Amino acid sequence: MNITYQERNRIFKLDTAHTSYCIGIVDKENFVGHIYYGRKLTEDNLAYLMRTEEPPYVPSENNRDRTSFLDTFPMEYTGSDLGDYREGTLEVRTTSGHTGVSLSYLSHRIYDGKEKLCGLPATFGQDPECKTLELTCEDKILHLQVILSYSIFADSDAIARSVKIINNAKEPIYLTKVLTACIDMDNDDYEMITLHGSWARERAIQTRPVTLGKQSVSSVRGESSHQEHPFMAWKKSTTTEESGDIYAMNFVYSGNFLAQIEMNQFSSIRAMMGIHPHDFCWKLGAGESFQAPEVICVYSSEGIGGMTRCFHDLYRNHLIRGEYKDKKRPILINNWEATYFDFNTEKLLNIAGQASKLGIEMLVMDDGWFGHRNDDNTSLGDWQVNEEKIGGGLKYLVDEVNKLGMKFGIWFEPEMISPDSDLYQKHPDWAIAIPGRMGSLARNQYVLDLTRQEVRDYVYEMFAAILRSANIEYVKWDMNRQLSDPGSYGLPADRQGELFHRQVLAVYELQDRMTREFPHLLLENCSGGGARFDAGMLYYSPQIWCSDDTDAIERLSIQAGTAMIYPLSTMGAHVSDCPNHTVGRVTPFETRGYVALAGTFGYELDVTKISEEDRNLIPKQVAMYHQYNDLIRSGDYYRIAHYADNHYYDCYEVVAKDKSEALVTYIQILNRPNYHSRRIHIPGLDPKRTYEIVNAEDWPEMKQTEYKGDTLHYAGINIPPLWGDFKGRLMHLKAI
Ligand code: GLA
Repeated sequence: MNITYQERNRIFKLDTAHTSYCIGIVDKENFVGHIYYGRKLTEDNLAYLMRTEEPPYVPSENNRDRTSFLDTFPMEYTGSDLGDYREGTLEVRTTSGHTGVSLSYLSHRIYDGKEKLCGLPATFGQDPECKTLELTCEDKILHLQVILSYSIFADSDAIARSVKIINNAKEPIYLTKVLTACIDMDNDDYEMITLHGSWARERAIQTRPVTLGKQSVSSVRGESSHQEHPFMAWKKSTTTEESGDIYAMNFVYSGNFLAQIEMNQFSSIRAMMGIHPHDFCWKLGAGESFQAPEVICVYSSEGIGGMTRCFHDLYRNHLIRGEYKDKKRPILINNWEATYFDFNTEKLLNIAGQASKLGIEMLVMDDGWFGHRNDDNTSLGDWQVNEEKIGGGLKYLVDEVNKLGMKFGIWFEPEMISPDSDLYQKHPDWAIAIPGRMGSLARNQYVLDLTRQEVRDYVYEMFAAILRSANIEYVKWDMNRQLSDPGSYGLPADRQGELFHRQVLAVYELQDRMTREFPHLLLENCSGGGARFDAGMLYYSPQIWCSDDTDAIERLSIQAGTAMIYPLSTMGAHVSDCPNHTVGRVTPFETRGYVALAGTFGYELDVTKISEEDRNLIPKQVAMYHQYNDLIRSGDYYRIAHYADNHYYDCYEVVAKDKSEALVTYIQILNRPNYHSRRIHIPGLDPKRTYEIVNAEDWPEMKQTEYKGDTLHYAGINIPPLWGDFKGRLMHLKAI
């Protein structure tokens, strides 16, 4: 890992273990251009690649064609409205109402380590595991400075980019668009991978050709959302799971975003990512600065899988924090699908009593324990225990659960306010709303205006008091509606455009406060299932509820999309009851266990009511979790086959970092009549070592139990047809 600056050629080069990223400064006007991103190069002087040799040359030599230069030059980060007609990354409006920004190089700094981003989640790394380049650019007319930061890591090929804007003028300026990252490059038959979904159908993988014009994914819902995800990759059409070039960007942010690729008239592409400019207008006072969130850029020549493993390692080592970062999480049982709102102390203790005997380690009390909330119409904001339901009080319940040898966890939805709540009666102006307009309800609730300090303090004290009142060791922090009606009674007219971003900053501040005061707490974020499963939230919580859809088959798809970027250790996944509450599907209990094993693992059912047969399987699943979770949390993940592509089976693998063992999960979705075995190739193993199927008793059909690593990869193994649908098996391989 190194960052160099060649004074003579005015070239910056960032080298990670396997990639190089190159930036150059050209012309007397000091334009900052993008030269190269890709496989690692030994050559440092790439000045010959700078796109200035062809007409229109550079403005100092040919200012009559200035706009042609600006409209074609591969920019490292762009201004706007002065002749680059491609969509740009920075837009402003001055107090006189004008737009137009042009950036030129001013200075730079290369230093060891990485500075924190004020108020924002971001990757971290200390000297000597990390180095940073800070390029300071300026617009001389506006007295605006733009600091572009690039951090690289000794143990990763990712590059973390962020942008800070400083207003050195005497007047305020309005930032109307601040994206974080931009990469201009030639098109190379690229295809774009993005993630799409809905409630209960999060993060389905979509691949489409990059074509002329703009293609984007975005959210203007105030959160990263179920619908589209702050991630995009672009790869050559020939790139596969295991080989070929792929580039990706992922946003370390949980609010509105835009991720876009534009292909222009000359078949160059501009890929960019940042806060969505819709409803964004930030008033930057004289002397003030604005910090834009971080974007992680990844290039891999090892296909989609190489990109995935790069994100996983970066997030495990440089983003996720806290006590549980590298620890096995307690196996929990959550009462949501077991009881919904219909529970009391007795019911919960019955569930806990039975669960503790089966090896389950924590009871989580979900929605409905506070105010007078017996359905989803009321009481958000009134975070007082409903002692009619929780007879004996919360402390009594927690103590009783602890006596069973179990931990206790609780559900909150701190960002919300129900119209039917004491809080709303007292403070109707604490809800986000446009004055004079009837607010748009969703699930019969409004969003609290957390941009106001007094609201943040109130909310914090409410839930902190609950957490202080008993031995609560886990919190599920939920967020069950998206933002709309962007109006704050606390912000002046010329700051209303700051609401969406300020709201996200407020959530970060609250979670930061909470994790500081309660450092031993295990925090699981959630948003109507997986609508805020993003890298921003992972900075505060090591796990996030993946989806409200707990059906094992649907989950294969949701988890495959999620694991495209995020480590398996982060995916909240539970075994639930059947017929499944979302799709009505009946799957074997074993299969539900195998699928949940690829995440945090837990239960979401009434253990006192399921069949004896299923209940008897729980201790086996608990043992399976304890046997494999270290490997699953820390290993390398390989996608082998996805039923969304082949319709019949799903297969993935986790390989230990030292390649000493691997766990292959095989799920047959549909059985096919009159069909022979299926050849599966198992990648990622040490080609020279011999592996043994440790659980050979689960694979009686196999002719042998020992195979060479290269044989398993290139020749594969024949998986027999399994009798019935939705059947699964694990294959545990160990090097001998
Ligand atoms: C959301 C969560 C669920 C559950 C409910 C409670 O939908 O995703 O797991 O907590 O809220 O209202």
